Amino acid sequence: MKTRVLTGITTTGTPHLGNYVGAIRPAVAASKRDDVDAFYFMADYHALIKSDDPARIERSRLEIAATWLAAGLDPQKVTFYRQSDIPEIPELTWFLTCVTAKGLLNRAHAYKAAVDKNTEAGEDADAGVTAGLYMYPVLMAADILAFNANKVPVGRDQIQHIEMARDIAQRFNHIYGREFFVLPEVVIEEQVATLPGLDGRKMSKSYDNTIPLFSGGQKHLRDSIMRIVTDSRLPGEAKDPHSSSLFTIFRAFASEAESEAFHEALVNGIGWGEAKQVLFERIEVDVAPMRESYDALIARPAIIEEILQEGAKKARAIAAPKIAELRDAIGLRSGVAVAPQAAAAEPVPRSGKPPRFASFRDADGSFRFRLFSGDGEELLLSRSFTDPKAAGALQKRIKELGATSAVVQVQPLSLALELDGEEVATTPDYEGEQARDEALNRLRGALDQLAAQE
Ligand code: TRP
Repeated sequence: MKTRVLTGITTTGTPHLGNYVGAIRPAVAASKRDDVDAFYFMADYHALIKSDDPARIERSRLEIAATWLAAGLDPQKVTFYRQSDIPEIPELTWFLTCVTAKGLLNRAHAYKAAVDKNTEAGEDADAGVTAGLYMYPVLMAADILAFNANKVPVGRDQIQHIEMARDIAQRFNHIYGREFFVLPEVVIEEQVATLPGLDGRKMSKSYDNTIPLFSGGQKHLRDSIMRIVTDSRLPGEAKDPHSSSLFTIFRAFASEAESEAFHEALVNGIGWGEAKQVLFERIEVDVAPMRESYDALIARPAIIEEILQEGAKKARAIAAPKIAELRDAIGLRSGVAVAPQAAAAEPVPRSGKPPRFASFRDADGSFRFRLFSGDGEELLLSRSFTDPKAAGALQKRIKELGATSAVVQVQPLSLALELDGEEVATTPDYEGEQARDEALNRLRGALDQLAAQE
């Protein structure tokens, strides 16, 4: 069972070297692991809270998508999409809003900081605070819960938001009486380096001390590195590597052996100008090939768009059945097909023979069952159980849940039944997307019939 790892990237600003080392590089590496099912998305709805400049939002979305792709993110393996291409997210945001205690949001750090600042300045507590800022944690909870993410890697400043997502999920589960949502766990990357910026403080846009990753090209990178503040030791004087930003940044890119050599050069009195050139050249080894892909992508935005549309399709194939399940559960049942590209829903025949379970033993002695429709079509194959009672209990659960069971798409042409965040049964592979969507309707109909028999 793969772990679903999900994280959002707020699309404001232009990625810098600190973002690359602290977030992009580790996330791309994690996405390559075989036990990880990564969902990475651009949080452009969140960006609207911070900026009302359309050109900036647009530009930043493009640059950030190009950056992640150039940094080696494989959109075939990772589900890479834009938040604003997933209409299920704002829909879920509203469902969650209606169960979220206002008091919970009053306690959110970002909102509280704004209120404290206003109060100190003798202003109205909510002066200049939009409802968007206030609702930020609920939108973020929807981002996570729409996909039943298990792990959410974020920076320390986001821990509270993940805790709130868990709170909100639990409250929803409690009110509607079922484990609709997996409770996400926060992941804080402890080992990744935080890079110092030009002035030695943490590299951050808010300190205006960043070194660009790609923007401005090689020249801008070199010029920035040359501006890193150093002490006034002259060439020939020994430098202390451990109090030097140059060394910290160098180490974030180099091997142990390379770092040792640089350490020695500093101790032996290399001039700062020369040391900066060494640093620049080392960074270029990694960055130059990525910059080349970045420039190629930025020059062809249509390619980026196509990748993101593909990603949105994959993401919606998960989110849409989830939302349909929730709509049913909260009383907004519409009776129409739920898959994003589903053809108009055909009425599901209710007459004829009822669907049935058929249990069997696998060659290895484990227990499984299939669900067949009344006319004998195989709809589901369960996972295997060592205990036949567990297989029976699952049949019972499926009957109870009926059409409110979560049917998710995990493979392009098949579906799976998910219970408490775990895949418990899968459909056969279908011939195409349309066949799959039609089968989804039949499956929902059969589940419905099972529940009606209860
Ligand atoms: N708020 C996050 C940040 O600023 C970005 C984000 C939005 C996010 N939605 C998310 C992160 C969902 C993780 C999961 O870093």
